[in-house]
Amino acid sequence: KKLLIIDTDPGVDDAMAIFAAFNSPEVDVIGLTTLFGNVKTSLATENALRLRELAGREDVPVIEGSSSTFAGVPNKRVADFVHGQDGFGNTHQPRPKGSKEEAMSAAEFIQQKVNQFPGRITILALASLTNVALALSLDETIGSKWAELVYLGGAFFRNGNVNPAAEANTLGDPEAADYVFALGNHIKVVGLDVTVGCQLTAADLDALDDGSPHGRFLHAISQTYHAFYAKHYGINGMCLHDPTAFVAVIAPEFFKWTEGSVRVSTEGITRGMTIMDAGFCNWVGPNAWSGRPRVQVALGVDETKVVQLIKGR
Ligand code: BDR
Ligand code: CA
Repeated sequence: KKLLIIDTDPGVDDAMAIFAAFNSPEVDVIGLTTLFGNVKTSLATENALRLRELAGREDVPVIEGSSSTFAGVPNKRVADFVHGQDGFGNTHQPRPKGSKEEAMSAAEFIQQKVNQFPGRITILALASLTNVALALSLDETIGSKWAELVYLGGAFFRNGNVNPAAEANTLGDPEAADYVFALGNHIKVVGLDVTVGCQLTAADLDALDDGSPHGRFLHAISQTYHAFYAKHYGINGMCLHDPTAFVAVIAPEFFKWTEGSVRVSTEGITRGMTIMDAGFCNWVGPNAWSGRPRVQVALGVDETKVVQLIKGR
């Protein structure tokens, strides 16, 4: 079994990914670390606690992450217009009963677990890479000791979803992402290139509500998210960003991977843009991508298989 740490900003699609992971025999979820993004960090923690309670998985620790970016800037932006003010589609969930781990930060937890189980930890990063970057800055060696880092983020050969250049998780902390891509090995990036095609329709969401507490919950929290896509893109489909990245953990064969080093722009109108070196310019000589670790970037996907697997889990 893969030992899985899920770094998350729950979030409607985060909730789906986390429930799918709890329900998957291929992985053992050993911790949920939290970050700002869809909501602020403290609410992400509360929501992660709520998710573990709904899943009956109070054994899984929730460890709070940073409220500031890797560069130390307090986060201000949240995506309440997509995920609701509570991150759960304005369903106003009851306060969770349990509480977070107080003893350490998310970065410390990641660093400790990777060192405790070298070669066995998979990190599924469903928010910005802030906590992972902070963990690497505590101990650079973990970048070659984790089994894999699977990151939901970026947009390589298509527009972003916050602006034409940038996808939300990467724009949330471009310095963190560029730092992680400089130091980390065994990284898979699952970006908008593949996730926008993996969707649930209104009928799919209705089918999720099978009367079980989880089904009812997922159906309820998804309504505003689905309505957002209908309103702004005119489609009957909510993108399964985070669950698709989870599928890349357990079924990487559903994707077409292209390898190259990745940089993230930190400046100007391209801030947050992810750019892979696919090798076309090697003849010119070294460039700002040269010498960096190779990253696997998902540029193709079997959408039907991904959506089927997510629905099943
Ligand atoms: C990412 O941003 C958030 O809205 C989602 O949870 C996902 O992690 C997609 O750009
Ligand atoms: Ca997310």
